[in-house]
This record gives sequence, C-alpha cells and structure tokens, in this order.
Amino acid sequence: MMSKMMNKVKKWAYDKQFYKEAEKRREEGKKMDVGFDLKGKKAVVFGIASEKSIGWAIAKTLNDNGCKIAVGYQERAGDYVKELAKELDDPVLEVCDMMNDELIESFFKRIEKEFGKFDYLIHSVAFAKKDFLQGKFYEVNRKGYNTAQEVSAFSLAAIVKASNHLMNEEGSIIAMTYLGSVMAMPNYNVMGVCKAALESSVRYVAMDLGERGIRVNGISAGPIATLAASGISGFSEMLSHAEEKALLKRNIEQKDVANLALFLCSDLSRNITGQILYVDAGYCVNGM
Ligand SMILES: NC(=O)c1ccc[n+]([C@@H]2O[C@H](COP(=O)([O-])OP(=O)(O)OC[C@H]3O[C@@H](n4cnc5c(N)ncnc54)[C@H](O)[C@@H]3O)[C@@H](O)[C@H]2O)c1
Repeated sequence: MMSKMMNKVKKWAYDKQFYKEAEKRREEGKKMDVGFDLKGKKAVVFGIASEKSIGWAIAKTLNDNGCKIAVGYQERAGDYVKELAKELDDPVLEVCDMMNDELIESFFKRIEKEFGKFDYLIHSVAFAKKDFLQGKFYEVNRKGYNTAQEVSAFSLAAIVKASNHLMNEEGSIIAMTYLGSVMAMPNYNVMGVCKAALESSVRYVAMDLGERGIRVNGISAGPIATLAASGISGFSEMLSHAEEKALLKRNIEQKDVANLALFLCSDLSRNITGQILYVDAGYCVNGM
C-alpha cells in the first residue's frame, strides 16, 4: 500500500517536472534563433523596398549569419534601401530593374567587380498593376499580363542567365512564391498565373544548373502585410482567413521565410532542389 502511494507521488513529481521542462523548452523555442556559419559566403538579393519586405528579412538573416550581401533595388526604393542597408555589414548596393536587360547586365558587372563569384541568389520580386489584382482574372489586358509575367516570372530566367557564370558550385537560388499558383484565390488573379510560371521556372532552372551542384527552390509563403501585398484587393481578409484556417492557427512572419531561406542556403539542404517549400503555418494542407 505504502509503495503504491510512493509510486504515485514519484509519478506525480515526474510529470510535474516533465511538464515544467516541456514548458521551458517551448518558451526557449519561441526565442530560438537559428545559427549557421555563412562566413565567406556572398548573396545577391533582389526585392527590398521597405523594412517589411521579405527580401529584407532574408538579407538581414543571411548577413547576421556571416554572409556578405549585395542588393539589387529599384531606383524608386533607393532611399529606403540605403537607410536599411546601414544595418548590414558593408553591403554592395546597386540599382537594377527586371524590365531592363541593360540594367541587369550592368548590375552583375558591378557584382563581378565587388564579389568576383557569389553563392546565393534571392529572387523576391513581383509586380502587377493594382487593377489586375481585383475582380475577374479574365479582365486582365495583354499589357498588364505581359508586364506581370516579365517582372514576376521571366525575371528569374533573366537574372540566372546574366549571372550563373558568377555562381560558385554548390550555390543556392531561391524564389518567393504563393499558393495562388496552384489554387484559384480571389483577387490574386494574374499574379497566380505568374507564380505558376515562376514555380515551373524553378524546376527548369534546377534542371539547368543541377550538374553544377547549384540548387534552385521556391518558398511558398503564407500572406504577410508588405507593400506588394497591399496591392491585392481584400488582403486583410486573406490574412484573417489564413490565420483561422492554418493548422497552427496563426499567420507567419517575414522571419519565418528568412529562416527557411537560411536553411536553403546552408549545407543542411544540399540535396533539396527543384522544390516548392511551404511556410504557411499549415494552411495549404487543411481540407476543411
Ligand atoms: N507578402 C506576401 O503575402 C507574400 C506571400 C507569398 C509570396 N510573396 C512574394 O514575396 C516576394 C516579395 O514580396 P514582398 O511581399 O516582400 O513585397 P515587397 O513589395 O516588399 O517586395 C516586392 C519587391 O519587388 C520589387 N520589384 C517590383 N517591380 C520590380 C522591377 N520591375 N524590377 C525590380 N524589382 C521590382 C520591388 O521593388 C520590391 O522590392 C514577391 O515575389 C511576392 O510575390 C509575398
């Protein structure tokens, strides 16, 4: 009788300790920042327009882990980029525009001069006119469709063509995408079609560069409030819908995407290529 009671007390003490430790681990997990050694590595990042940009979170995270950063920015974002870049360790900043082949070429000439070769290429760029991110998809016109495709999808091939000779073997290329590529999302419209082309481009570029050990992947992020997102009609409803439907019952943040980008730049992902990886708190697998 006595020993039964002792066992119960021991079990209770054990459970209490177990839950205490589990709670501690959970709290630590919340604060946890992953760390990789990217010293000596160099990354080219396209797509910083504000501190909310996913591209900015990626640049900062890679830099915090020792990687040197070059930023290709649109002229109109210049002031913001120069201010933000003060937080980076000796970055290279240069104007570039995905609609302009000469600028793409001169951008990479500068990269060659500053970096010689580099390791990571981050494509975090998209554009469609606001008029085509609302209402009916079929209302898009030829010019709007072509511009969106050129900036948001063709640009991946364009920058890879202009720069792959500068990329080190075992490098990593990452493009940002969204679930609207494979599912019809209200208002996302032409951008969904661009993301489908971008995701397909990821697979083809992965095939092109595989023999050089260069990996190419897409990150499909859940909705995050950024400048680009603000152009999508009803974006705040998208955010609340995503939060409610996601298996984890929350929205994601820029840092979540940056952490996956860090993993995709590291050797831990050395045999992952041609993939689209989802960071959406489990939204895309919820059937109901
Ligand atoms: N925010 C989201 O909810 C979300 C979700 C999934 C995927 N994405 C994707 O992430 C990427 C980054 O978007 P973001 O949300 O950080 O918004 P953002 O507005 O901060 O970034 C978009 C970037 O595209 C650049 N850009 C636009 N036209 C360009 C051009 N002609 N030449 C060069 N650069 C050009 C802008 O300067 C800007 O830096 C995009 O591909 C976007 O589709 C965003």
